[in-house]
Amino acid sequence: MQIIDGKTVSEQLKAQFKQKIDLITKTGRAPGLAVIIVGEDAASKVYVANKIKDCEQIGMKSVHCRLKEDTTKEELIEAINCFNADPTIDGLIVQLPLPKHLDENEILSHIDVHKDVDGLSAYQTGRLALGIPELKPCTPSGVMELLKAYGISVAGKNAVIIGRSNIVGKPMAFMLLKDNATVTVCHSRTVNLTEITKAADILVVAIGRARFVTADMVKPGAVVIDVGMNRAEGKLCGDVDFEAVKEKVAYITPVPGGVGLMTRTMLMANTIKAYELYGK
Ligand code: GUN
Repeated sequence: MQIIDGKTVSEQLKAQFKQKIDLITKTGRAPGLAVIIVGEDAASKVYVANKIKDCEQIGMKSVHCRLKEDTTKEELIEAINCFNADPTIDGLIVQLPLPKHLDENEILSHIDVHKDVDGLSAYQTGRLALGIPELKPCTPSGVMELLKAYGISVAGKNAVIIGRSNIVGKPMAFMLLKDNATVTVCHSRTVNLTEITKAADILVVAIGRARFVTADMVKPGAVVIDVGMNRAEGKLCGDVDFEAVKEKVAYITPVPGGVGLMTRTMLMANTIKAYELYGK
């Protein structure tokens, strides 16, 4: 069994990004990322602080826009429009979840699609679905990078995804399909889940339930990718029962130290890509 080390892969990628930005800034401006956070969600605050730290590490410009919990739809859209119009900002994300009074889909639809480095707009989602991706959602794209880094080919393999969210499950399916995997997407209404997961050569788990996937649910020699980030008994843990499952599989990602770091890294990659494609 080999542990897929997200820390090493993300550090290697960030070193490449830093080199690229060092070169760019010899003659021009650095790529810029703006992050809007609304309210006081504790986990979101940590995620955003880490994203800003990543930017600093590679020499990328970052703007951290904090709005209060009771921000109105109009105020938030105004902030989005402000960054849409800012030529020094190439990537813009609104940290999710938003407070309940704000409709996420409606809010995200105001982000300039060419700055949509989360890849969650209808435009970027549609491009991915058509097989002509441009700015891809960061978590599934980080999973694909991890597989590539470990020389794991998905072509012809049975790939099973647990979770059908717009941010992970659905885009993950399109990315695996593009690389010629046979893809099954399972969710809360799936019947006989274990029967399906036991046939998976590659199992991607993104349901947000601590240690949900147990050893009896995986095929010996499978590749298990854990996208979960849960807190149980005061400790961080994934959606996979890591200790038991690791004994059975060929590759597995740990939590923390696996996919999470790659999500942040792919946000940097997307911002550089948006800069290269549309930056002025
Ligand atoms: N909340 C948790 N993960 C993410 C992410 O990748 N992007 C945004 N915008 N919000 C998140």
